[in-house]
Amino acid sequence: MAEKARLTLVGAGPGDPELITLKGVKALKAADVVLYDALVHPDMLEHAQGAELIFVGKRAGKYSVTQKEINELIVEHALKGDGQHIVRLKGGDPFVFARGLEEIAYAEQYGITGSVVIGISSIMLPGYYGIPLTSRGINQSFTAVTATTAEGGLSEEVVNAAKNSPSTVFFMGSRKLDLIVAEYQKAGRGDLPVAVISNGSLETGSYFKGTVDTIVGLFNEKQPEPPILLIFGHGAAHAHAVQSYKE
Ligand SMILES: C[S@@+](CC[C@H](N)C(=O)[O-])C[C@H]1O[C@@H](n2cnc3c(N)ncnc32)[C@H](O)[C@@H]1O
Repeated sequence: MAEKARLTLVGAGPGDPELITLKGVKALKAADVVLYDALVHPDMLEHAQGAELIFVGKRAGKYSVTQKEINELIVEHALKGDGQHIVRLKGGDPFVFARGLEEIAYAEQYGITGSVVIGISSIMLPGYYGIPLTSRGINQSFTAVTATTAEGGLSEEVVNAAKNSPSTVFFMGSRKLDLIVAEYQKAGRGDLPVAVISNGSLETGSYFKGTVDTIVGLFNEKQPEPPILLIFGHGAAHAHAVQSYKE
């Protein structure tokens, strides 16, 4: 019996390797095997000295490990010998536009105990660039939307956000920027501020801002690198380089 088999889903944070939590570091130190994604900073893996490291991320244009294969790898490694501790290290938070629930549920079917260390989602990246998602007296809510559905199409939630949301963070939206912009224009919101964050929180990070009517032109000119987050809302007008805390 693999009595020691366990799975810990760990949120790696939004990019900067110091934005993982203390609990996340403890879990990495106690790991036998780490399965990690493409958005995980390599420096973070140094916490997992002695563990077997397995890359399971998606890379554009190359073969990607499927979700089914990831689930099976977790179980296969967890059940070796009298059981191993698997850390599944995922970008941002494991439950925000990620498939943490599926991984835990699959492992639990095999009697593998699952636990979670939440992470700082890239939803929080706007703060790194001085962009408030809420402002007292201006907006009482914000929305986070994936622009791309599981089938690769434009999400219906984009249309809802364009009509109704005062402040929206779009994930996986850069390839659909023109379609998102068209929805905001249909809703008569061409003047709304928009900011684009690329490689947020990393040394290679960058941002720029415009409005719904100007952002496609700016995007084509600057050609930012993925991963990219789009922010549509009045707060985007405040985008500027905030000094990140350093010691
Ligand atoms: C599959 S989702 C995973 C989200 C992750 N679970 C989280 O909580 O941040 C990947 C998307 O997150 C956004 N993203 C993640 N890291 C980012 C970064 N450092 N800068 C900008 N966008 C980022 C991009 O929109 C990217 O396409």
